[in-house]
Amino acid sequence: MGVFASTDDPVSTGHEQVVFCQDKQSGLKAIIGIYSTALGPALGGTRFYPYASEDDALADVLDLSRGMAYKNALAGLDLGGGKAVIWGDPEQIKSEALLRAYGRFVESLGGRYYTACDVGTYVADMDVVARETRYVTGRSVEHGGAGDSSILTAWGVFQGMRAASEHVWGTPSLRGRRVGVAGLGKVGKYLTGHLLEDGAEVVATDVNPKALAWVRSNHPQVSLVDDASALVAADIDVYAPCALGGALNDDTVPALRAKVVTGAANNQLAHPGIEKLLADRGILYTPDYVVNAGGVIQVADEIEGFNFDRAKLRATRIYDTTREILSLADAEGVPPAVAADRLAERRMAEVGRLRAIHLR
Ligand SMILES: NC(=O)c1ccc[n+]([C@@H]2O[C@H](COP(=O)([O-])OP(=O)(O)OC[C@H]3O[C@@H](n4cnc5c(N)ncnc54)[C@H](O)[C@@H]3O)[C@@H](O)[C@H]2O)c1
Repeated sequence: MGVFASTDDPVSTGHEQVVFCQDKQSGLKAIIGIYSTALGPALGGTRFYPYASEDDALADVLDLSRGMAYKNALAGLDLGGGKAVIWGDPEQIKSEALLRAYGRFVESLGGRYYTACDVGTYVADMDVVARETRYVTGRSVEHGGAGDSSILTAWGVFQGMRAASEHVWGTPSLRGRRVGVAGLGKVGKYLTGHLLEDGAEVVATDVNPKALAWVRSNHPQVSLVDDASALVAADIDVYAPCALGGALNDDTVPALRAKVVTGAANNQLAHPGIEKLLADRGILYTPDYVVNAGGVIQVADEIEGFNFDRAKLRATRIYDTTREILSLADAEGVPPAVAADRLAERRMAEVGRLRAIHLR
């Protein structure tokens, strides 16, 4: 099946379309994965990463594009799920020619796939890609883009946390709760602001001295702890992983004192089965891809012509979606992560099916 080298067969994953793209002169080797267009054109970012092998690049794009279908479905978007990877070290090979060659391949799909930024690609890169294709979001503000997506990501995480708080303590307000924020980056900083405004007490950590200096001067009331393990073991009500993936694992879950976990980080569950471990300990986990959808909601809005207020309204609905998932989880006796998957699959099936009604 491989085009650049030998690889596994992706057919069994159920993807609609997987496209291998190559431009030898610029060094472009990309794979675009479209998992589903049941709800509309597939939307998902382009990851530019020096994978060890083509198999690794393919496995990543298959996994990420499937994840986007679920995320976009629960975000209430009329968009399916896709993702792309460019195989190579962006520091070494990223160039105007390579990005524009990539843009031409995106254009060749005729709107079945919209791209955006991801690890290794930035707003400025999307402006270059856009010189060759209409099917690109995540552009700079000067080009009608949505700008920094972490603003609505943080807002959406806050809404998910309010829904979890209501479920556990009977009130969406975080007033008086101790919230542990791991990672004071783009999202963690905005989230800290929302929490403080709502009356929560924030305990935080980061590995970057600049992030710590920022919080010390902007929010001196935030208490800081040495590292994420100290935060996990701290007397907190809510844990908000806002750094890297795998925050919830066999070491952290048994040590966690919080009753709720709601954070921005992608892929918080280190492996399948962790959601059950959390449920067994009575910890309410709001699935990461549900609560961190504010960013994709923000960039998706560009397709209509970006309007911040409209996008914010959509991101605010993450509160309702999280409530629905938590109720479904209770009703069906499953962890919220399972309930979220079921709800996403239901929307893809029920709304996607409507295309069978012939119009002309
Ligand atoms: N920015 C978005 O719109 C968006 C959207 C969806 C999901 N996410 C996810 O949310 C997370 C945060 O995104 P971001 O944009 O704020 O990234 P970022 O790089 O701006 O911030 C991450 C922060 O975490 C810190 N960090 C790294 N390792 C740490 C550790 N071991 N302990 C404590 N702190 C650590 C970093 O120093 C940095 O300050 C990522 O997992 C990202 O994939 C972001």
